[in-house]
Amino acid sequence: MNVPKTIAIIMDGNGRWAKAKGLPRTAGHKQGADTIRTVALHANKRGVKKLILYAFSTENWKRPEDEVRYLCKLPGLFFNRYIKELMENNIQVTFAGELERFPADTQKVIRKAVSMTEENTGLELCIAINYGSRRELVLGIRQYAQQVANHQRANDLDEDQLADYLMIPEEIDLLIRTSGELRISNFLLWQIAYAELIFTSVAWPDFDEEQLDRCIEEFNHRDRRFGGIQS
Ligand code: FPP
Repeated sequence: MNVPKTIAIIMDGNGRWAKAKGLPRTAGHKQGADTIRTVALHANKRGVKKLILYAFSTENWKRPEDEVRYLCKLPGLFFNRYIKELMENNIQVTFAGELERFPADTQKVIRKAVSMTEENTGLELCIAINYGSRRELVLGIRQYAQQVANHQRANDLDEDQLADYLMIPEEIDLLIRTSGELRISNFLLWQIAYAELIFTSVAWPDFDEEQLDRCIEEFNHRDRRFGGIQS
């Protein structure tokens, strides 16, 4: 079985999952955080190199204050509970996004998880938080333009080099979106140029090992030609 090196997931449907059970939306996010543990452990077992999860978009600040507050607390709850297990499984935690906008304790807990796991060599679990792909591109382009203006480099940027200015430089092999919506929602626009896309109706809190294996199997049935022809 050919396992995708990089998998990105738009974790959608927490709110609807909770509503269907008569629970507050935050209960869906809590269960969704547990799904992160399940899916990260399984992706690690399958040999995935990097798993990028869309935990909080640059647009999510528009949600009700209570919900935003809860989402800011979740990384703390998650890492307090699971960091030991992530360590035992050699999983490295990283993040992508502008962390500075979060409360100091949220920032601290994420940075601590990153530094505790930085020597780990298994799966890289990258949490995209206050991340937006357009913002990522704008920041990268600004940085490049500044270097050109400072005569630190020539105006000769190519496609491979542009990736060096992004928060997430890797090409995505497989992008999954849960819960039935057929949108990309400002996630990894540059990086998914040749990704295989899978949209499943399963809500994120119900996504599990079996669902991930099904997606990997589906990926294996796709004929990836990268613009060429079948060999
Ligand atoms: C989308 O569901 C989900 C989110 C915007 C938040 C995802 C966050 C987590 C799963 C937990 C993050 C935890 C850590 C450890 C970083 P939705 O609320 O848009 O669902 P809906 O479309 O059904 O309303």
